[in-house]
Amino acid sequence: MAKKPDSTESRPASAAKTGGGKPVFETKLGRLYRGDCLEVLSAVRESPDVVFADPPFNLGKDYGNGLSDSLKCEQYLRWCERWIAECARLLAPGGAFFLFNLPRWNVELGHYLGCAGLQFRHWIAIDIKYSLPIPGRLYPSHYSLLYYTKGKPRVFDRPRVPIPTCRHCGGDIKDYGGHRSKLNPAGLNLSDVWGDIPPVRHNSTKRRSANELSLKLLRRVLAISSNPGDLVLDPFGGSGTTYIAAEEMGRRWLGVEIGDCDPIILRLQGKDAQLEPKNKGDAGKGMTRLRVPRRASEGLLPF
Ligand SMILES: C[S@@+](CC[C@H](N)C(=O)[O-])C[C@H]1O[C@@H](n2cnc3c(N)ncnc32)[C@H](O)[C@@H]1O
Repeated sequence: MAKKPDSTESRPASAAKTGGGKPVFETKLGRLYRGDCLEVLSAVRESPDVVFADPPFNLGKDYGNGLSDSLKCEQYLRWCERWIAECARLLAPGGAFFLFNLPRWNVELGHYLGCAGLQFRHWIAIDIKYSLPIPGRLYPSHYSLLYYTKGKPRVFDRPRVPIPTCRHCGGDIKDYGGHRSKLNPAGLNLSDVWGDIPPVRHNSTKRRSANELSLKLLRRVLAISSNPGDLVLDPFGGSGTTYIAAEEMGRRWLGVEIGDCDPIILRLQGKDAQLEPKNKGDAGKGMTRLRVPRRASEGLLPF
């Protein structure tokens, strides 16, 4: 494994937007900053081994952060170009950059990743229905996960996935052309179409109904592209799924969220059940109302 850079070097300079340059929350493995990722990232001095970015999709959602999520197409693309360039600049040689978005946007954003000096590896289709049928269009049924690297990947572990079976009868779904007995019992090689990622829809379990990703997705991304001790950057914290996966898997992490960070902090503390279920509305609306009377970030450092 390559030698890791010193993890104590990152200190955002913008006091106004990052709470005096201090993280709003820290664990042994990671630090969370509240602020605009463009400002926070410009002051980071570490080189992440993995960037995972799940930005707002510009669909007019309320993320509770006071920002517009319905920019003109050109404005949205220019903004994405800026944070992509910033993340790509920081990325360590051999590092991996994953960008989750709608196909409509990723078809453009891949160009920016290339212009930022990264190499295309995959367009991963994540088979999740996310929209009602649209008149005059095919039914949208996958999200796009772009996977680029800065040069030759330093880490690439291809996980095996269980041989798919019918959930009713337990039998195989495919016949493998009569070669079933020759399949590796450890499972199938992972392809670039992922049909086994569950949507996070159920309101009793989700922290931000419109935007929380499945932990399974983040575990897989980190398993493919990182080793324990590597540094993972996610500039769009949301409910903190990336940071939870990094903690579980012994990866260091760096996080940024411009909106309410309490859902992330409570989740990292294992206290997210304290969120009022009825406040888990569209993309974090009302997420500041908690059963606990004080802000989670006050005096509750966990370790
Ligand atoms: C789609 S969500 C991320 C969800 C996350 N992947 C999860 O699983 O919970 C995008 C997040 O980015 C945040 N955001 C938007 N603009 C930002 C910016 N300029 N800097 C930092 N965070 C930003 C939003 O407030 C929102 O929480």
